[in-house]
Amino acid sequence: MPVSDKTAEGMRQSSWIRRMFEAGGELRKRLGAENVFDLSLGNPEDEPPPEFRQELAYQAQNPRAGMHRYMANAGYEATRDAVAGAISSELGLSFQGSDVIMTCGAAAGLNVILKALLNIGDEVIVPSPYFPEYLSYIDNHGGVARLVDSGDDFLPDPDKIKHAITKKTRALILNTPNNPTGVVYDSILLKKLADVLEESSQRFGQTIYIISDEPYRRLIYDDQKFSSPLNHYHQSIMATSFSKDLSLPGERIGYIAVNPDIEEKSELLAGFVYANRILGFVNAPALMQNVVTNLQNVTVSVAEYQRRRDYLYEGLIEAGYEAVKPQGAFYLFPKTPAEDDAAFVQHLMEYGVLGVPGSGFGRKGYMRLSFCVNQATLEGAVKGLGKAIRGWR
Ligand SMILES: Cc1ncc(COP(=O)(O)O)c(C=O)c1O
Repeated sequence: MPVSDKTAEGMRQSSWIRRMFEAGGELRKRLGAENVFDLSLGNPEDEPPPEFRQELAYQAQNPRAGMHRYMANAGYEATRDAVAGAISSELGLSFQGSDVIMTCGAAAGLNVILKALLNIGDEVIVPSPYFPEYLSYIDNHGGVARLVDSGDDFLPDPDKIKHAITKKTRALILNTPNNPTGVVYDSILLKKLADVLEESSQRFGQTIYIISDEPYRRLIYDDQKFSSPLNHYHQSIMATSFSKDLSLPGERIGYIAVNPDIEEKSELLAGFVYANRILGFVNAPALMQNVVTNLQNVTVSVAEYQRRRDYLYEGLIEAGYEAVKPQGAFYLFPKTPAEDDAAFVQHLMEYGVLGVPGSGFGRKGYMRLSFCVNQATLEGAVKGLGKAIRGWR
């Protein structure tokens, strides 16, 4: 094996999403692409809003000297100022441009934060079900993930989290709106979680940070108001991106923002800038930083995602599935009719539908279905899901 034992092991256990991607390729060959309804990916099918192309064209037609050079590792000042202005009005906190570091998407942001915070063996609490890449990101930087099961409502349980905290706990990762469940955490829950961390930080004499992963922050339904963990806990750091709300996942553009009131701010920011550099990201893509500077108040159609959420949710309930109705993001996480979620997802493929077993997100007996696909795919999927539950013994 040319690769290290650890890499080989990681590849062997490679995520369910990847496996479903490969299974999807085979299924398309077998059934024909038009008979496959792929709800396995969080890769939005919708194009970015028209303002994105206008801004891209503007940047191409108005070149400036040095616009493709290296820059300060934290990113362009104008972009950081624009982001700070937008999140200040969105969250009601006073961010400065210097509180923001531009990153290669949320994934890079999370790696930068973990790289800067973790000593070998430090623990990071992850409520389960979870976005599976967290486990790799934590491991990348010598950390240990402590999984804490959420209830049937998929909301993190403050009491269980309190009991999982040890003197080695360095951070809690929160992800609202959530992938894979679509649940949104309300202010009351966030306040309770903040109280637990406050008290535990005091007890152990060391700060426990909240790392708030918020790429779905703007995809929120039913006129709900988003509440960020940053609104409730000052020792908090946000990682996010434009991957989902501008439909730009391939462009790798996002940012870290520290809570304006975070303690030892300049040391933390310097640590993040250093980690961004030495992890090899160097800086977020220059062209994309320029493009998003003027798109801070532009998003994909949230109403359209809500319509698709309703269509898939109603289709599932009518067919006899049990599911929590998602309030944000673009995933549904219904129960599979059997505890063996992998077997049911396999069975579903016979009807042309691709989902991902809940086991891949730390919750057996469920499956994740993405609705960031077009209407025809959703219609085919709802039909297949109906037939699959009826055909399941
Ligand atoms: C919860 C969550 N965090 C982080 C990411 C990574 O986002 P990005 O593509 O911006 O790196 C994703 C992508 O699907 C996600 O679902």
